[in-house]
Amino acid sequence: MTHASSRVSALRSVALTVPDLALAEQFYTQTWHLDVAARTDKAIYLRATGADHHVLALHEAPGPARIRNVTLRARSAAALQEVAQAAVAAGGRVLQPAGPLGEPGGGTAVTVADADGRIFRLVHGDVLHADAHEEKDRPVRLAHAVLNSHDVEATRRFMEQVFDFSLSDRTRIMAFMRCNSDHHSIALGDTDNDALNHIAFLMPDLESVMRGGGRMRDAGFGIEWGPGRHGPGDNAFNYFVGPFDVVIEYTAEVEQVDDSYQAGQPSDWTWPPGRVDQWGISQPPSARLKQAQRAIVFVS
Ligand SMILES: [Fe+2]
Repeated sequence: MTHASSRVSALRSVALTVPDLALAEQFYTQTWHLDVAARTDKAIYLRATGADHHVLALHEAPGPARIRNVTLRARSAAALQEVAQAAVAAGGRVLQPAGPLGEPGGGTAVTVADADGRIFRLVHGDVLHADAHEEKDRPVRLAHAVLNSHDVEATRRFMEQVFDFSLSDRTRIMAFMRCNSDHHSIALGDTDNDALNHIAFLMPDLESVMRGGGRMRDAGFGIEWGPGRHGPGDNAFNYFVGPFDVVIEYTAEVEQVDDSYQAGQPSDWTWPPGRVDQWGISQPPSARLKQAQRAIVFVS
């Protein structure tokens, strides 16, 4: 296995605020097929079938949904201090110094923000479920989170200098970055804003990505982009606009890479006219999807 990042072993979870926790819980359990791992007065913590204590934390707060943080898992306890120092050196801030995390899943964590207010939390020693498994039609873990940036090259430098991520591929509109053998765990989208673009949940197989598309359509959430297979990462996809305009993706078959992977440049990743996926069957992303991909901003 490759160790692309000396500090980060994986993307663990994303935390959001939503205005209606009951509605969100119903959707993310009944339709999206996560399970409630823990709950507090004002938050629920949703797990997939994998070992991560939770992959999605939802906190109730009025107004539009916002993103509270992207949580990464540290390779060592020492990485927390390294990240705190590197974040400041890279123009960011430490929002919460390393210390015990007072939420379900526990562990110790440091919380940092980059110069544009993207909030990352690095956790170490968090609880892992002993019953990790794969199950048809249910997400296993997060596959990636995509963050928009009005200055992708600056955000990319932050990810490299602070979290020791590596560039897997650079297209005209995205920088794909990895911390482990997954082709990417974080991607940065070239845009005019710094919102959350989407959260991708890894399904155990392609069949589950497709059946998930039908289950979502039955629940009133049509496929807004897909089905298709991406270029960089080679993963199959279906994209949806979930409750409160949060863009969520079912994906599978993400390319596994090692240190020998050669980063592609924009000229290596072009489509023939009219094509937006490898199979050549997907329509372009819907206008609704594109609008939602800029709706969820970080809490300040
Ligand atoms: Fe994606």
